[in-house]
Amino acid sequence: MAETVFIPLETFPGEGRIAASPESVKKLKTLGFEVVVQAGAGTLSRMPDSEFEKAGARIGSAADAASADVVLKVRRPTSAEVTGYKSGAIVLAIMDPYGNDQALADMAKAGVSAFAMELMPRITRAQSMDVLSSQANLAGYQAVIEAASEYDRAMPMMMTAAGTVPAAKVFVMGAGVAGLQAIATARRLGAVVSATDVRPASKEQVASLGAKFIAVEDEEFKAAETSGGYAKEMSADYKAKQAVLTAEHLAKQDIVITTALIPGRPAPRLITRDMLKAMKPGSIAVDLAVERGGNVEGAVADQVVEVEGVKVVGYTNMPGRIAASASALYAKNLVTFLETMVSKETKALALNAEDELVKATMLTHGGAVVHPNFAAEPVVVSATA
Ligand code: NAI
Repeated sequence: MAETVFIPLETFPGEGRIAASPESVKKLKTLGFEVVVQAGAGTLSRMPDSEFEKAGARIGSAADAASADVVLKVRRPTSAEVTGYKSGAIVLAIMDPYGNDQALADMAKAGVSAFAMELMPRITRAQSMDVLSSQANLAGYQAVIEAASEYDRAMPMMMTAAGTVPAAKVFVMGAGVAGLQAIATARRLGAVVSATDVRPASKEQVASLGAKFIAVEDEEFKAAETSGGYAKEMSADYKAKQAVLTAEHLAKQDIVITTALIPGRPAPRLITRDMLKAMKPGSIAVDLAVERGGNVEGAVADQVVEVEGVKVVGYTNMPGRIAASASALYAKNLVTFLETMVSKETKALALNAEDELVKATMLTHGGAVVHPNFAAEPVVVSATA
């Protein structure tokens, strides 16, 4: 009998994404799976049940989780949800595993093999499975759209018979995946864009998008990138120099979008209240790092607040605000990864614990927390399980 993939309705407050799309359902069918989508799961992503049915899915209810061999989710299942899953089921989601030991223990206890999509290694083979990239790219785009809608003026320069509207000045702090897309989007809207980062590799990328690069380019900057391509925590001395440069530059900007993150650390504080005070009244700050402590002083999770005359936008789930596109890309990431777990010969699930993608992302298996970053003691998982 064919194995079953179940896609539930997300229960996390405000989560409009779904871990499937009609396209991904078609792909799952060609891989040999039966697919069940919970009724209404795609509504907020503009994917009605009828589209999933057309793609070959059966529309079911939450109770279908109990018989599924694979559960595809956006967010980690709650303790109550995972208790209802079949022992041995594969669960793929954005698991947010750090600091959530109890949730990992609950998934282990339920006997599921849980995979954290955000731990996918950034290697060529896994590029199409990289949820951090697919979601951050859209978050960067949406940050500019949110900023534009909060801004009471036009973004591009407009020369009209009734006078000239000057182009908005947009400053992007952190030029990773989200920041680069924010730069590109702001440029398309006609803004004058500048950007900063602490990784020297970003300088050329910023320039190639037509934005001006502004940074403290000292010896520390030249060594600020890890072998994995991520930023390092900068010294107090560097931070002080960066703050002076930021304050000076910010005073001339209309919109600032911050995306700066350091893996495994709180987000660096880049903008203080005093810096906001020096901005023109009615300026906008969008803080994409708010969930990790925030780059902007005074940013409040999931709110737009006014700080020193600047509107500070702190939406935590920016990809969820562009749910239809975010779901489509996320669904593709999931199916591509799941495909690596399906045997080409038997068309059945065959988990290979030696695969580097599995090793990097598998949190729980066989009743235990197995990931080296989270297991109490090292666990050996047999090669094929
Ligand atoms: P991220 O989300 O961890 O951080 C965002 C940005 O903030 C980074 O560019 C970082 O350098 C910057 N930042 C950190 N501290 C800062 C500070 N104090 N001031 C200013 N900026 C600061 O990074 P993301 O977007 O995940 O990208 C990290 C790297 O991974 C990039 O080099 C990107 O090109 C690379 N990447 C590689 C992929 C692959 O090979 N498959 C896929 C996606 C990204």
